[in-house]
Amino acid sequence: MAIHITALLILAVLHLAHLAPSFSSEEEYQFKTWMIKYNRAYDLEEYYHRLQIFTENKQRIDRHNAGDHKYTMGVNQFSDMTFTEFRKSFLLTVPQNCSATKGGHFRTNGPYPDSVDWRKKGNYVTPVKNQGPCGSCWTFSTTGCLESVTAIATGKLLLLSEQQLVDCAQAFNNHGCNGGLPSQAFEYLKYSKGLMTEDDYPYTAQDGTCKYKPEMAAAFVKEVVNITTYVEMDMVDAVARLNPVSLAFEVTSDFMQYQDGVYSSTECHNTTDMVNHAVLAVGYGVEKGTPYWIVKNSWGAGWGMQGYFLIARGKNMCGLAACSSYPITI
Ligand SMILES: *[C@@H]1O[C@H](CO)[C@@H](O)[C@H](O)[C@H]1NC(C)=O
Ligand SMILES: *[C@@H]1O[C@H](CO)[C@@H](O)[C@H](O)[C@H]1NC(C)=O
Ligand SMILES: *[C@@H]1O[C@H](CO)[C@@H](O)[C@H](O)[C@H]1NC(C)=O
Repeated sequence: MAIHITALLILAVLHLAHLAPSFSSEEEYQFKTWMIKYNRAYDLEEYYHRLQIFTENKQRIDRHNAGDHKYTMGVNQFSDMTFTEFRKSFLLTVPQNCSATKGGHFRTNGPYPDSVDWRKKGNYVTPVKNQGPCGSCWTFSTTGCLESVTAIATGKLLLLSEQQLVDCAQAFNNHGCNGGLPSQAFEYLKYSKGLMTEDDYPYTAQDGTCKYKPEMAAAFVKEVVNITTYVEMDMVDAVARLNPVSLAFEVTSDFMQYQDGVYSSTECHNTTDMVNHAVLAVGYGVEKGTPYWIVKNSWGAGWGMQGYFLIARGKNMCGLAACSSYPITI
């Protein structure tokens, strides 16, 4: 019996030694600081596993920031995750039915202002929200766009319900936490004759049954405008003259740790079949000769630039012009 217990103890010690590879005290210190900031706790085995991933992410960030790039990376709430884990929890599965060979947007001939920012034009953009671990980015892109379109039309900025879209928009090729597209969500809203407010139909970050009450609808879609696939200039025209525009693009591993500056990537693709994240363009500008979009994300205000990011404009970067759309309200 005694021998048995000793053997078990030796095994346990060997097991721990195996789990505790050598990390520098600096690496452990950074990880512990990060854990406190993001309120994380792990058991011992998980601690070393997450420390390993965190350290690899941190090394990538440091390598990137030491190079010559137009954007910086930094640790954030995702820094203890591999990109594979991140993709599973936060991104759309591909391919989505993203394409509009002939869109409905009519472009004018400009001229366009050098920069536009709907956040500064008036009270037109709601605070950054947080989708949590649910592939519902498309609902946030949709509400964000309709919130702005409604505020521009009525002067009233309302917070609108993502959960109604998660729970109720299935008939339009949307799949709740398993993905969807803003253009398909706008089609649902046209059909449903309205969208409730966030307060009346709160977000749960989980799939649920549809509890839409038409008599409580607070925002409306009369028509859906899809922008012709890859015609980025139509997006500029729409954002300059009309309202923010929903777009989708391909998130790759270099985007997870984005911090600030104008993002561009050689890792991502630029085609309709690869888009895996939907967001909202609220403006555009030029920084040191580099044109960019100003984009509202749905990963909380602690991510990126207070929840926003800038991405290169004019080259269909990561497929951002592949499937963009906006609604027309009543
Ligand atoms: C794409 O459209 C087809 C046909 O309408 C549908 O069967 C399929 O589920 C859609 N794919 C997605 C990812 O929604
Ligand atoms: C816009 O795109 C959606 C799906 O992405 C499609 O169902 C709808 O017919 C398109 N609307 C118009 C007006 O082209
Ligand atoms: C995608 O990128 C390639 C290489 O830069 C380019 O030749 C091609 O025109 C782009 N396609 C689209 C649809 O933007």
